[in-house]
Amino acid sequence: MKHLLSPSILTANFANLQTDIEMLNQSEGDWIHVDVMDGVFVPNISFGFAVIKAIKQYAQKPLDVHLMIVDPDRYLEEFKNAGADGITVHYEACTHLNRTVNKIKELGCRAGVAINPHTPVALLDDIIEDLDLVLIMSVNPGFGAQKFIDNTYKKIADLKKLSQLRNPKVYIEIDGGVDDSNAAKLVNAGANVLVAGNAVFSAANPIDAISLLKHIV
Ligand code: DX5
Ligand code: ZN
Repeated sequence: MKHLLSPSILTANFANLQTDIEMLNQSEGDWIHVDVMDGVFVPNISFGFAVIKAIKQYAQKPLDVHLMIVDPDRYLEEFKNAGADGITVHYEACTHLNRTVNKIKELGCRAGVAINPHTPVALLDDIIEDLDLVLIMSVNPGFGAQKFIDNTYKKIADLKKLSQLRNPKVYIEIDGGVDDSNAAKLVNAGANVLVAGNAVFSAANPIDAISLLKHIV
Protein backbone atom coordinates (compact mmCIF):
# COMPACT_ATOMS: atom_id res chain seq x y z
CA MET A 1 0.00 0.00 0.00
CA LYS A 2 1.27 3.43 -0.83
CA HIS A 3 1.65 5.56 2.26
CA LEU A 4 -0.69 8.38 3.13
CA LEU A 5 0.35 11.77 4.42
CA SER A 6 -1.63 13.58 7.11
CA PRO A 7 -0.26 17.12 7.52
CA SER A 8 -0.87 18.38 11.06
CA ILE A 9 -2.34 21.86 11.37
CA LEU A 10 -0.92 22.28 14.88
CA THR A 11 1.82 24.46 13.41
CA ALA A 12 -0.47 26.27 10.94
CA ASN A 13 -1.31 29.97 11.15
CA PHE A 14 -4.27 30.01 13.56
CA ALA A 15 -5.06 33.61 12.65
CA ASN A 16 -5.67 32.54 9.08
CA LEU A 17 -6.53 28.85 9.06
CA GLN A 18 -8.62 29.17 5.91
CA THR A 19 -5.53 29.93 3.85
CA ASP A 20 -3.65 26.93 5.25
CA ILE A 21 -6.62 24.59 4.74
CA GLU A 22 -6.95 25.78 1.14
CA MET A 23 -3.23 25.15 0.69
CA LEU A 24 -3.72 21.59 2.01
CA ASN A 25 -6.65 21.10 -0.39
CA GLN A 26 -4.32 21.95 -3.29
CA SER A 27 -1.51 19.74 -1.96
CA GLU A 28 -0.78 16.04 -2.31
CA GLY A 29 -1.66 15.49 1.36
CA ASP A 30 -4.29 12.80 1.91
CA TRP A 31 -5.85 13.64 5.28
CA ILE A 32 -5.76 16.68 7.55
CA HIS A 33 -4.43 15.86 11.02
CA VAL A 34 -6.23 17.80 13.75
CA ASP A 35 -4.65 17.74 17.23
CA VAL A 36 -7.01 18.35 20.14
CA MET A 37 -5.32 18.93 23.53
CA ASP A 38 -7.08 19.49 26.84
CA GLY A 39 -4.30 20.70 29.14
CA VAL A 40 -4.86 17.62 31.34
CA PHE A 41 -3.79 14.59 29.32
CA VAL A 42 -1.03 16.71 27.80
CA PRO A 43 0.58 19.92 29.10
CA ASN A 44 -0.88 22.08 26.33
CA ILE A 45 -4.27 23.31 25.10
CA SER A 46 -4.99 23.58 21.39
CA PHE A 47 -8.58 24.04 20.16
CA GLY A 48 -12.02 22.46 20.23
CA PHE A 49 -15.28 22.00 18.34
CA ALA A 50 -15.77 25.53 17.02
CA VAL A 51 -12.39 25.55 15.31
CA ILE A 52 -12.89 22.06 13.86
CA LYS A 53 -16.29 23.13 12.49
CA ALA A 54 -14.68 26.15 10.87
CA ILE A 55 -11.94 23.98 9.32
CA LYS A 56 -14.56 21.54 8.03
CA GLN A 57 -16.24 24.31 6.06
CA TYR A 58 -13.17 24.58 3.85
CA ALA A 59 -11.48 21.17 4.06
CA GLN A 60 -11.80 18.95 1.01
CA LYS A 61 -9.91 16.11 2.67
CA PRO A 62 -10.86 13.84 5.56
CA LEU A 63 -10.25 15.19 9.06
CA ASP A 64 -7.97 12.85 11.01
CA VAL A 65 -8.78 13.96 14.56
CA HIS A 66 -6.25 13.02 17.27
CA LEU A 67 -7.74 13.45 20.72
CA MET A 68 -5.16 14.08 23.42
CA ILE A 69 -7.83 14.42 26.08
CA VAL A 70 -8.88 12.46 29.16
CA ASP A 71 -12.11 10.46 29.07
CA PRO A 72 -12.88 11.17 25.38
CA ASP A 73 -16.21 9.26 25.50
CA ARG A 74 -17.86 12.44 26.79
CA TYR A 75 -17.26 14.25 23.50
CA LEU A 76 -17.12 11.68 20.67
CA GLU A 77 -20.48 12.66 19.25
CA GLU A 78 -19.58 16.34 19.29
CA PHE A 79 -16.33 15.67 17.45
CA LYS A 80 -18.24 13.67 14.85
CA ASN A 81 -20.75 16.52 14.49
CA ALA A 82 -17.92 19.04 14.21
CA GLY A 83 -16.64 17.16 11.16
CA ALA A 84 -14.28 14.36 12.23
CA ASP A 85 -13.90 11.54 9.69
CA GLY A 86 -11.50 9.54 11.81
CA ILE A 87 -11.21 9.75 15.59
CA THR A 88 -8.11 8.53 17.41
CA VAL A 89 -8.16 8.28 21.20
CA HIS A 90 -5.24 7.54 23.52
CA TYR A 91 -4.90 4.09 25.06
CA GLU A 92 -3.68 5.80 28.24
CA ALA A 93 -6.79 8.02 28.46
CA CYS A 94 -9.50 5.35 28.16
CA THR A 95 -10.65 3.11 30.99
CA HIS A 96 -13.11 1.19 28.80
CA LEU A 97 -11.31 1.24 25.48
CA ASN A 98 -13.48 -1.40 23.82
CA ARG A 99 -16.58 0.67 24.53
CA THR A 100 -14.90 3.83 23.26
CA VAL A 101 -13.79 2.18 20.01
CA ASN A 102 -17.24 0.72 19.41
CA LYS A 103 -18.82 4.12 19.96
CA ILE A 104 -16.48 5.74 17.41
CA LYS A 105 -17.47 3.09 14.87
CA GLU A 106 -21.19 3.48 15.62
CA LEU A 107 -20.78 7.17 14.81
CA GLY A 108 -19.49 6.12 11.39
CA CYS A 109 -15.90 7.27 11.96
CA ARG A 110 -12.64 5.45 11.41
CA ALA A 111 -11.55 4.25 14.86
CA GLY A 112 -7.97 4.76 15.97
CA VAL A 113 -5.99 4.19 19.15
CA ALA A 114 -2.80 6.11 19.90
CA ILE A 115 -0.01 4.92 22.18
CA ASN A 116 2.55 7.11 23.91
CA PRO A 117 6.28 6.43 23.44
CA HIS A 118 6.45 4.42 26.70
CA THR A 119 3.35 2.30 26.02
CA PRO A 120 4.17 -1.10 24.49
CA VAL A 121 2.40 -2.31 21.36
CA ALA A 122 1.68 -5.59 23.17
CA LEU A 123 -1.00 -3.80 25.22
CA LEU A 124 -3.09 -3.63 22.03
CA ASP A 125 -3.28 -7.43 21.85
CA ASP A 126 -6.93 -7.60 22.89
CA ILE A 127 -8.14 -4.64 20.83
CA ILE A 128 -6.15 -4.81 17.58
CA GLU A 129 -8.86 -6.69 15.67
CA ASP A 130 -11.38 -3.93 16.40
CA LEU A 131 -9.24 -1.07 15.16
CA ASP A 132 -9.04 0.74 11.83
CA LEU A 133 -5.87 2.57 12.84
CA VAL A 134 -3.07 2.53 15.40
CA LEU A 135 -1.15 5.75 15.95
CA ILE A 136 2.35 5.35 17.38
CA MET A 137 3.52 8.57 19.03
CA SER A 138 7.13 9.18 18.07
CA VAL A 139 7.40 12.15 20.48
CA ASN A 140 5.74 12.76 23.84
CA PRO A 141 2.40 14.29 22.84
CA GLY A 142 1.66 17.93 23.52
CA PHE A 143 3.79 20.00 21.16
CA GLY A 144 4.89 20.24 17.56
CA ALA A 145 8.49 20.38 16.38
CA GLN A 146 9.96 17.94 18.92
CA LYS A 147 12.77 15.47 18.34
CA PHE A 148 11.83 12.06 16.89
CA ILE A 149 12.32 9.13 19.30
CA ASP A 150 14.32 6.32 17.67
CA ASN A 151 12.65 3.49 19.61
CA THR A 152 9.68 4.08 17.28
CA TYR A 153 11.19 1.77 14.64
CA LYS A 154 11.10 -1.15 17.08
CA LYS A 155 7.47 -0.37 17.89
CA ILE A 156 6.53 -0.27 14.21
CA ALA A 157 8.13 -3.70 13.77
CA ASP A 158 6.15 -5.03 16.79
CA LEU A 159 2.92 -3.59 15.42
CA LYS A 160 3.59 -4.85 11.91
CA LYS A 161 4.03 -8.37 13.31
CA LEU A 162 0.82 -8.13 15.34
CA SER A 163 -1.19 -6.64 12.49
CA GLN A 164 -0.03 -9.21 9.95
CA LEU A 165 -1.37 -11.97 12.17
CA ARG A 166 -4.55 -10.35 13.36
CA ASN A 167 -5.53 -7.27 11.32
CA PRO A 168 -3.51 -6.79 8.13
CA LYS A 169 -5.64 -3.84 6.99
CA VAL A 170 -5.01 -1.65 10.05
CA TYR A 171 -3.42 1.73 9.31
CA ILE A 172 -0.09 2.24 11.07
CA GLU A 173 0.25 6.00 11.64
CA ILE A 174 3.37 7.71 12.99
CA ASP A 175 3.08 11.09 14.67
CA GLY A 176 5.87 13.39 15.84
CA GLY A 177 9.16 14.54 14.42
CA VAL A 178 8.51 13.07 10.97
CA ASP A 179 10.51 14.75 8.20
CA ASP A 180 12.39 13.97 5.00
CA SER A 181 15.26 12.41 6.97
CA ASN A 182 13.19 9.58 8.48
CA ALA A 183 10.06 9.22 6.31
CA ALA A 184 11.49 6.55 4.00
CA LYS A 185 12.80 4.48 6.89
CA LEU A 186 9.42 4.69 8.65
CA VAL A 187 7.54 3.50 5.58
CA ASN A 188 10.05 0.72 4.98
CA ALA A 189 9.56 -0.37 8.60
CA GLY A 190 5.81 -0.72 7.99
CA ALA A 191 4.21 2.68 8.60
CA ASN A 192 1.52 3.61 6.10
CA VAL A 193 0.31 6.98 7.39
CA LEU A 194 2.78 9.73 8.27
CA VAL A 195 1.80 12.86 10.20
CA ALA A 196 3.95 15.93 9.62
CA GLY A 197 3.47 19.33 11.22
CA ASN A 198 6.68 21.26 11.53
CA ALA A 199 8.24 19.66 8.44
CA VAL A 200 5.36 21.08 6.38
CA PHE A 201 4.53 24.41 7.99
CA SER A 202 8.07 25.59 8.68
CA ALA A 203 9.07 24.92 5.07
CA ALA A 204 9.47 27.86 2.71
CA ASN A 205 7.01 26.11 0.41
CA PRO A 206 4.62 23.78 2.30
CA ILE A 207 3.11 22.37 -0.94
CA ASP A 208 6.58 21.24 -2.05
CA ALA A 209 7.38 19.89 1.42
CA ILE A 210 4.22 17.75 1.27
CA SER A 211 5.09 16.57 -2.20
CA LEU A 212 8.59 15.62 -1.07
CA LEU A 213 7.21 13.58 1.84
CA LYS A 214 4.73 11.85 -0.48
CA HIS A 215 7.32 10.87 -3.06
CA ILE A 216 10.14 9.99 -0.73
CA VAL A 217 9.81 6.22 -0.84
C1 DX5 B 1 2.02 16.21 18.99
C2 DX5 B 1 0.94 16.09 17.93
C3 DX5 B 1 1.47 16.00 16.56
C4 DX5 B 1 2.25 17.19 16.10
C5 DX5 B 1 3.32 16.70 15.20
O1 DX5 B 1 1.45 16.07 20.24
O2 DX5 B 1 0.16 14.94 18.14
O3 DX5 B 1 0.47 15.69 15.61
O4 DX5 B 1 1.49 18.16 15.45
O5 DX5 B 1 4.10 17.76 14.88
P1 DX5 B 1 5.57 17.66 14.30
O6 DX5 B 1 5.47 16.99 12.95
O7 DX5 B 1 5.95 19.07 14.26
O8 DX5 B 1 6.39 16.84 15.27
ZN1 ZN C 1 -1.21 14.29 16.45
